Amino acid sequence: MVGTPNKNIIDALCDPRDTLYIRPGGELGSICDPNLVGIIPPIAPGNFGSKAFRKEFNLRYAYVAGSMVGGISSTTMVTAMADFGFLGMFGASGLNPQAVEEAIVKLKKDLGHLSFGSCLIHSPMDPEWEEKVVSIYIDHGVTLVEASAFMQITPSLVRYRLHGLTTLPDGAINAPNRIMAKVSRLELARRFFSPPPPKLVQDCLNRGWITEQEASLASMIPMAQDLTAEADSGGHTDFRPALTLWPSMLRLADEFSRKFQYPQSLRVGGGGGLGTPAAILAAQDLGLSYFVTGSVNQSCVESGLSEGARLLLSKASQTDMSQAPAADMFELGSKVQVLKYGTLFAPRALKLAELYRQYQALEDIPADEVKSLEEKIFRKPLTEIWEETKRFFTQRDPAVLAKALASPKMKLALVFRWYLGQASRWAINGVEDRRTDWCIFSGPSIGAFNEWVSGTYYADPSHRKVADVAGLLLYGAAVLKRFTLARDLGLLSDDSYHGLSPLPPEELASYI
Ligand SMILES: Cc1cc2nc3c(=O)[nH]c(=O)nc-3n(C[C@H](O)[C@H](O)[C@H](O)COP(=O)(O)O)c2cc1C
Repeated sequence: MVGTPNKNIIDALCDPRDTLYIRPGGELGSICDPNLVGIIPPIAPGNFGSKAFRKEFNLRYAYVAGSMVGGISSTTMVTAMADFGFLGMFGASGLNPQAVEEAIVKLKKDLGHLSFGSCLIHSPMDPEWEEKVVSIYIDHGVTLVEASAFMQITPSLVRYRLHGLTTLPDGAINAPNRIMAKVSRLELARRFFSPPPPKLVQDCLNRGWITEQEASLASMIPMAQDLTAEADSGGHTDFRPALTLWPSMLRLADEFSRKFQYPQSLRVGGGGGLGTPAAILAAQDLGLSYFVTGSVNQSCVESGLSEGARLLLSKASQTDMSQAPAADMFELGSKVQVLKYGTLFAPRALKLAELYRQYQALEDIPADEVKSLEEKIFRKPLTEIWEETKRFFTQRDPAVLAKALASPKMKLALVFRWYLGQASRWAINGVEDRRTDWCIFSGPSIGAFNEWVSGTYYADPSHRKVADVAGLLLYGAAVLKRFTLARDLGLLSDDSYHGLSPLPPEELASYI
């Protein structure tokens, strides 16, 4: 269509439920019209992503609120997602096993038959956590975990995946425990798309963790049927660009589905950067099976993050993010992405990482440097921090303490990790006195969301509900899809996507 955009078309495109029959000049017509130049079909957000994925987890939408550490993706958030037919992942990482168990008991009771998952984070510094949490998941019948930060397949993961593996009367394999693996690298994806390594299966058998039957069926299933390809995101991230990562992972899934002849094709979901309808549509059009968000959910009312920190997040732009060392894998040099707007956590944490690289022991750090650390970052003598750290590990994990007592470098790491760990808790609990130290994991997607909702009802974080945000993104993506179809058919005279401001909740409810 050439000329002024036809207002009727623009308005009609914004209701993704209607079929549009377009006449020459961009007029709306009817099915009987002999001169139609194009038809725009209804686009249902419920059809986005993989049908098999939605069926497997009994969902209305192939949309996942990913785990967020320390219960930031809270039981309330997971429940809110499940109530609307989305999938929520409980943020179990960083919590002690008892707190994880309490949350799981609550979710099982509150959600009944509705699906949810929970995080299983690789803990090379605390392998017992992984084992204990897997036992909790098995004991309480948690049948979906989001496995994150794994650098290799571990015995605990294999144990979880193989638990309850049986053959059905028709010969099909029934694998009740599902792993959604979150990775950013192809070499890790290859491991998750392969069957459990035979050596680890044997190991699990030797430990009495699995039965002979479970071991014998292991070679017939992939470690993970679903894999989230995590691009530049909040929290742990490799900062990989989505547009290069996702197509490679999709190709790999095809290759491994063929190679192992699994009864169901392997699926790839995408996380990292999904904060606008356009981003969701891009993920959909690339062929991803499901969509994982994190940063946008953290600013919502159901998030476990303090109100003050949520307010900061709601004001962030895309460039307000920075790299910082990860607390849980500090010694390995792992990085997380954090908010730099309104907090000095990132430069302070980077300073600690630099000192850790430079010195072998606390005692090696020059006195003036120690003084500066004690005044500006720790606000306590480092000797006091060490005493606190010792008390913590005496209870939590005496083996770690024993190692640190024998290794000055490890002692240095534990003292520095005190700050990194506390900084997240100060943000979660909204400790005002420590506002400039708040560590808020976040990716640029929150900035993109904030820019989109700027000046609307959702600019205020107290108006952000996690299911509304999911609905807005999916509904918006459906509308955008219709605009791109109309554009591809040459029915639009300009490229701007009118009418894409976020709908208020009462209007959104009629679409989602
Ligand atoms: C505050 C925060 C904490 C996170 N913690 C975890 C975690 O413990 N486990 C995990 O698998 N992913 C974690 N993630 C990643 C999210 O689950 C999700 O994959 C990611 O945020 C998606 O990218 P986005 O931030 O661009 O939306 C975290 C993300 C954020 C923002």
